[in-house]
Amino acid sequence: MSENLPSPTHAIRGPVLTFTGDPFQQGLEDTMVYESDGIVAYGDGIITHFGPASEIASQLPGDIEVKNYGPDSLISAGFLDSHVHFPQTPMIAAFGEQLLDWLNKYTFPTERKYADKAFAASVAEVFLRENIKNGITTSCVYCTVFPQSVDALFEEAQRLGLRIAAGKVMMNRNAPDYLLDTTQSSYDDSKALLEKWHGQDRLMYAITPRFAPTSTADQLDAAGQLWNEFPEVYMQTHLSENTGEIAWVKELFPEREGYLDVYDHSKLCRPRAVFGHCIHLTDKELHTMHNTGSAISHCPTSNFFLGSGYLDVFKAADPSRPVRTGLGTDLGAGTSFSILATLNEAYKAAQLNNKKLTAGHAYYLATRGTAHSMYIEDKVGSIAPGMEADMVVLNMKSTEIIDYRMQFAEDIHEALFIQMTLGDDRAVQATYANGKLLYENS
Ligand code: GUN
Ligand code: ZN
Repeated sequence: MSENLPSPTHAIRGPVLTFTGDPFQQGLEDTMVYESDGIVAYGDGIITHFGPASEIASQLPGDIEVKNYGPDSLISAGFLDSHVHFPQTPMIAAFGEQLLDWLNKYTFPTERKYADKAFAASVAEVFLRENIKNGITTSCVYCTVFPQSVDALFEEAQRLGLRIAAGKVMMNRNAPDYLLDTTQSSYDDSKALLEKWHGQDRLMYAITPRFAPTSTADQLDAAGQLWNEFPEVYMQTHLSENTGEIAWVKELFPEREGYLDVYDHSKLCRPRAVFGHCIHLTDKELHTMHNTGSAISHCPTSNFFLGSGYLDVFKAADPSRPVRTGLGTDLGAGTSFSILATLNEAYKAAQLNNKKLTAGHAYYLATRGTAHSMYIEDKVGSIAPGMEADMVVLNMKSTEIIDYRMQFAEDIHEALFIQMTLGDDRAVQATYANGKLLYENS
C-alpha cells in the first residue's frame, strides 16, 4: 500500500489513540492502540505515517515541520456522528415533551423556516462550525423536506472539505401541510439531489424517509426503489425510539409484523442503512438488523432528553449476531454537540442496563465503530497510513477540575474516562479534516 501513498507534507506529534479492530468483538487488548509519544504525518489529505516519534521522525523529509502538541494532548481520528438534524440547531433545549408532541410543538414549525435558502445557509454554517469545534469530521445528517436545505448543507460541507452524508427528508403524511411532499416529488427531488451531490469531493447522499409514521407505504417503496437504482448511497431513518411511536406504527401498518418489518418490506434494510435509536428492538428485529447489514445509531443524550429509554449497546453488539452500531448526537433532541458529553450519557445508558462501557469501548464507538457502522472504516475513523487525514487533538487538561483530577489518573484508561465524564468542547484543541486545520482552540 505504501507505494501508493502521497509524500508527507505535514506532521503532528503527541500521544495518539486509535483502534485496529472492534473491541466489542475482539476485546480491548487486541484492538486499542495507545502511543504515548507518536507522530502522524500526512500529505494530500491522506495519512502517510503513524508510529512512535522515535521511529517516525527519521523517516520524514527534513523540511517537514512537526507540530508538537505535547504530552497533555491526545491525537485521535476525527469523531463521527451518525445521526443528527442540522435544521434543529435553533431549537436545541426545547422544554417538556416526549417524541410525538415534541415533533408537533417544536420541530415541524422550526423546519418550516428552511424553505428560505438563506436561512438554511446561515444555520448550516453554525451547525458545521459547532461540529468542528467538537472534533466531529463526519456526520450523517437529516436536512428538511426542502431541497434547498440540502444544497445549503452540502455547499458549506464542501467549502470545509468534510466527509458528510446528508439527504432531503421525505414525508407525505402526518405532518403539517406546509412540510409535506408527495411520493413522486420526494422521489424526484431526492434523485436530483443525489445525482448532484453524491461523490462530489467527499460528500455522500442519504435517502431520508423521516420515519414510518410520516410516510405512506407507497413513499417508503419509492425510497426503496431509488436506493435500488443507487445502491452506493445511504438510507437513514428512525426506528423504535419511543413506545407511543411503536404503537402508532402498529396501527398505521397492521399488515406488517413490526416496526422494522415496515422498512424491510420496502427494501430499506441492507448495508448503509442507518437506523436512529433502535432502543426497543425485539430479538427477531436484532437478528434482521444483523442479517441485512443494517446499522444502529445510538443517541443517548436524545434518548434521555425525550424520555425515550436507553439502548443496550452490548446487546446490540452481541458477538453471536453483532449489529453494526455507531454513535449519534441526534440534535436537536440530543442536548450536546460534544462527543465527549455524548459518551458520558452512553456510559449512563450502559449503567442502566447493568453493563460497563469502558472508555476504550466508548472512544471506539465515537471513531472507528461509527465509521464501521457506515461502511467507511477503510477511509476514516482510525489513524493509519492510507486513511484520510481527519483528526481531533484533545487537551487533556482543559478545565481546572479536569486538570486537578488528571493528577490522580493512573493510566490512559482512567485519563480517557475522565475526559468523557467531565469534558466538553473546551477539551477540543484542534480539528483537522482532509489534512486541513479547520479549528484551533486559542
Ligand atoms: N422521529 C421522527 N423525526 C424525528 C426527529 O426529528 N427527531 C427524533 N429524535 N426522532 C424523530
Ligand atoms: Zn433523529
